[in-house]
Amino acid sequence: MTTSESAAVPFRIADHVLGASPYIPEWLDLDRSAFIRLDRNENTAPLPASVRDALVRGVDGVAAQSYPEPGPLQPLIADYVGVPPEYVLATNGSDQGIDLTVRLALPPGGSMAVARPEFAVFHHVADAVGGRILGVPYGPDFEFPYAEFSAAVRAERPDLITLINPNNPTGTAIDIDYVESVIADHPDIAVIVDEAYYEYTGHTVAGLTTRYPNLMVLRTFSKAFAMAGLRLGYVVAAPEIIGHLRKLQNPFDVNQLAIVAGAAQLARVEEMEREVAHAVRVVKPYVVRALTEIGVPVWPGSANFLLVRPDDCAAAVAYLHDAGILVRSMSAPGLRGLFRVSLGSLEEMRKFVEVFRTYVQGDSVQNRPEEVER
Ligand SMILES: Cc1ncc(COP(=O)(O)O)c(C=O)c1O
Repeated sequence: MTTSESAAVPFRIADHVLGASPYIPEWLDLDRSAFIRLDRNENTAPLPASVRDALVRGVDGVAAQSYPEPGPLQPLIADYVGVPPEYVLATNGSDQGIDLTVRLALPPGGSMAVARPEFAVFHHVADAVGGRILGVPYGPDFEFPYAEFSAAVRAERPDLITLINPNNPTGTAIDIDYVESVIADHPDIAVIVDEAYYEYTGHTVAGLTTRYPNLMVLRTFSKAFAMAGLRLGYVVAAPEIIGHLRKLQNPFDVNQLAIVAGAAQLARVEEMEREVAHAVRVVKPYVVRALTEIGVPVWPGSANFLLVRPDDCAAAVAYLHDAGILVRSMSAPGLRGLFRVSLGSLEEMRKFVEVFRTYVQGDSVQNRPEEVER
């Protein structure tokens, strides 16, 4: 915090808030609609007609003027997940699910075990509540650190264990039996399992919430359901936990257009699954093959994005930007020098590959010693 900030606020702010930092996404001041947007793990597909029609009907009706009514959505989500409706709480994006569950389970001064680098909102919220992170680094190829994680949990007995499956930004999937063993072995520790990318793996522990009262599963409509701008997520947990989370949420946090679009998406789950299968079985293998041919190291991960290590990351990201393509450069320890690229349509990814190939070939020509000396 700067001196001018401390002078400008005339009341006391808790030390852990003073020490925390805001979460500021990259490319914030840009009109991203003019770009191929492969920087935020969004779904770049246009809205399905049925979802668009439902939104138009909502706007033509009273969706914008009235306070939202999430009631009808909860059973639809519960049906999709395969749990009773009282196990579900709709949230304003999964970010709010993270906010509510971390605030519920992490007391000031308490600790949260998580493999690092983790999805940034987790440490953002942990910092804001004055919690401590017990971070266990991923392996050199971003593999989950099974033995080290278990040892750290046993030794430190944290208040909260967070498993992000698969993780963003590393793309790492965690063995589902291991996830269950962590939940089962620590019945008195809260366990959050973030399944934002569940649709891309098909691996879930959401059904286990009926068996384990220490488990909270987080999901989102931002990725496979292509609704990042509308902000809809949900928590799956035992009704007793949902009851406590409701105390931390405000009554109208989930907006009516998100509710309308979410319900419309849940009426076309099979189509969504076909889109996801295309992304996983066609688009991702194409990108991995093409980047491997170009000769850059690539980590495909288990979600709708990949990690790439060009020779000069900042130059590659700037080159792609100037050609109308946004990717995300990584700054977390262990990831510096890499960029993350989300899966768009096959056409968008062909364009990405073409521009990136031109960049790498041009770059290697410029940097060849004999060329430089001339
Ligand atoms: C692992 C993970 N969890 C949660 C979220 C938040 O998703 P939402 O858009 O629903 O807030 C993201 C978004 O990128 C994510 O990668």
